[in-house]
Amino acid sequence: MPTLTVDGKSMEVDAGKRLVQAIEDAGVEIGHRCGGFARCTTCRVAFSEGEPATMTRAEYEKLTERDLFGQYRLSCQIVCDHDMSIGEVAMTKSNQGWTDTGPAVEAAVTPEATFVPIDELTA
Ligand code: FES
Repeated sequence: MPTLTVDGKSMEVDAGKRLVQAIEDAGVEIGHRCGGFARCTTCRVAFSEGEPATMTRAEYEKLTERDLFGQYRLSCQIVCDHDMSIGEVAMTKSNQGWTDTGPAVEAAVTPEATFVPIDELTA
């Protein structure tokens, strides 16, 4: 099982779990205001280690649209398939003053994911 480190804690997570869900399960009230469809960017995180070298097209398009590419990743578009350390969870229920974190995300990445090497997306 891959290890996720977030908020100073490390834990094993089920392989294939969406990163946004794994972070929430770790007790961090991360935003997912669009329900995990790569539309809102409230699930954005910065990696300290283990940033995936692939990205969904939906993530790439949203990050470039919002001028966030190269700074953040969308945790709703990432699955836990290797060890990862999160340096920053940018938007949480408490730091944004939300009453909840957002609609529950589906188990599988939405919209249906094709993971593309980042080099290919930026070529
Ligand atoms: S972009 Fe909205 S939850 Fe990820």
